[in-house]
Amino acid sequence: MTTENTTPRRWLRRAGAPRLEFGADYNPEQWPREVWAADVRAMRAAGVTIVSLAIFSWARIQPRPEVYDFAWLDEVIDLLHAGGIAVDLATATASPPPWLTTRHPEILPVDLHGNTVWPGGRQHWRPTSPVFRAHALRLVRALASRYGKHPALAAWHVNNELGCHNVYDYSDDAANAFRAWLRDRYSTLDRLNEAWGTDFWSQRYSDWDQILPPRQAATHPNPTRNLDFKRFSSDALKDHLRAERDLLRELTPDVPVTTNFMVMGQMNPMNYADWAAEVDFVANDHYVLPGPQARDELSFSANLTGNIAGGQPWFLMEHSTSAVNWQPVNVAKKPGELHRDSLTHVAHGADAVCFFQWRQSRAGAEKYHSAMVPHAGEDSALFRSVVALGERLASLSEVAGSGRVPADVAILFDWESWWVAENDSHPTDRLRYRQEALDWYTALLNLGIRADVVPVGSSWERYRLVIAPILHVVPAALAARLTAHAQENHLVTTYFSGIVDEHDQIWLGGYPGALRDLLGIRIEEFGPLLDGESADLDNGTTGTLWTDRVDVTDPAVEILARYKTGEQAERAAITRRAVGAGSAAYVSTRLGPDGLTAVLPRLLEAAGVTSELPSALRGRVELARRGDHRFLINRTSEPVDLGPDGILEPRAVKIL
Ligand code: GLA
Ligand code: GLA
Repeated sequence: MTTENTTPRRWLRRAGAPRLEFGADYNPEQWPREVWAADVRAMRAAGVTIVSLAIFSWARIQPRPEVYDFAWLDEVIDLLHAGGIAVDLATATASPPPWLTTRHPEILPVDLHGNTVWPGGRQHWRPTSPVFRAHALRLVRALASRYGKHPALAAWHVNNELGCHNVYDYSDDAANAFRAWLRDRYSTLDRLNEAWGTDFWSQRYSDWDQILPPRQAATHPNPTRNLDFKRFSSDALKDHLRAERDLLRELTPDVPVTTNFMVMGQMNPMNYADWAAEVDFVANDHYVLPGPQARDELSFSANLTGNIAGGQPWFLMEHSTSAVNWQPVNVAKKPGELHRDSLTHVAHGADAVCFFQWRQSRAGAEKYHSAMVPHAGEDSALFRSVVALGERLASLSEVAGSGRVPADVAILFDWESWWVAENDSHPTDRLRYRQEALDWYTALLNLGIRADVVPVGSSWERYRLVIAPILHVVPAALAARLTAHAQENHLVTTYFSGIVDEHDQIWLGGYPGALRDLLGIRIEEFGPLLDGESADLDNGTTGTLWTDRVDVTDPAVEILARYKTGEQAERAAITRRAVGAGSAAYVSTRLGPDGLTAVLPRLLEAAGVTSELPSALRGRVELARRGDHRFLINRTSEPVDLGPDGILEPRAVKIL
């Protein structure tokens, strides 16, 4: 059996045998001192091994420009250490204190419309502000000097969820940094003008200083500038991460550095595949969004995080014990979900299960957000469930460090296609990139097939079946890679794939330009569907959102399904072209999880991919594998009979 690399590039600095870490964000500054010792006692009772500390403590640590107050933090860290609890210490730069924004309002971000983003919440700082950077690094230096040698310190936690609220900044600092980034990328204005297609609508630049971030414009802004601004904005925050990290590495070279990513839901501004190399280990925050695919989305995100981490174990820095506070309606987790959610992350490579937060706040905007210790206190069903989870994780230490067993199927994931495919002024604004990818993942789970969600820039050549949903941006080199892969293996792609190059410029000659020859089809016009419209296929499935007027151009193309109704009636809807020993298939409409579940078996069969689960379990149980461990995850709210392996309780996970 091949497993992926099992040695973390670098993991926590701490003594002792490998284990699954368990813990939370800990915000003791919100509580009187008397509570701290009680906290540590309760953490020990719950089996907590690590906490993230000082994430929002800047105003306490540095109450005035020249005054630092470490006494309270010394006491907390010593208490934790005495209790055997390790510390993932934040650099505390996430939320600048009032004295800083009062003295330096020029660090405040500016929105699309030119409005200042005022303090009052958090993360009110410009990623490109040299003034903010200098103050942040001063704080980092002070913390590293004070705690670098503390035996409780297991890792540095840079800032917090970089870009959660401040990724798109349209200020003058951003404009200057954007220009510098563009000079670096294009060298000459001619090349920028060419890439951006600035002869359209008289946008040609004759001086770098004329270039602005995409501030509110009269109508559709230049799409390639949008794309470059997204690339730049992700890079600007990555640059902040590097700046803090470099200083930490200089001052405390033996302490690993991480930051918490947000691989979840529609959160797309940070290209994490491109950030992973910057940290010593990958950490992620994940929150379940309600809906029919909520559980599958968690699995999808966990799997993608594992692949962003290059197959190395990763750190689940935050999820919730129960409800959050930031959705329109915030529902509690159902019985079993706390454990199932946690263990699903472990199944996909997490070696730490941590929460936001330890003790539920009494004040502030997150007071209705669940925590490990709820408002009701330790005498609560929730805390008992937390304690049971701690025991379960402690019993699984042999899982720690084990590599994930790669699947036979890969779903390619591409931030740039996500950004561009959902741009305005397109055939439809209804298209949702990540939803299409998730639908394929759900369909595979329905069939009992394991799949890996892998960044498009990583190595996916070993997968027998590569699924590339809405792979919209296909530079020539990627087209060549996909073409080579399909010679020996199998590729499936979908509507609106292969349409543009890296500059968001159309590949001419008929769609899907970059993949037209590989697929053996040609499309002259797209056929997006209006809300409520659908098109039936002759295989019993129904398409929504999109159709294509497909012409088959290569006689080697097999038509797997045709449209039965709608504008494309009689035309090919799903095609497959044999290529050498492999094939390249195309799905021209949105089939959704059920339709894809119906269509996939033929594609899997051609690729020789079979389920590792007995047929009675397929669909009801998700299988994930790490090393020799098999995780059986109940996707349903009913018990599942595993035969000789017993009963899998509703929403439960069994590890064999
Ligand atoms: C994010 C933040 C935390 C907290 C949680 C609430 O993940 O990092 O500080 O606000 O959201 O869900
Ligand atoms: C208007 C404008 C044209 C073009 C079309 C597109 O008519 O004058 O330049 O933008 O809209 O529909």
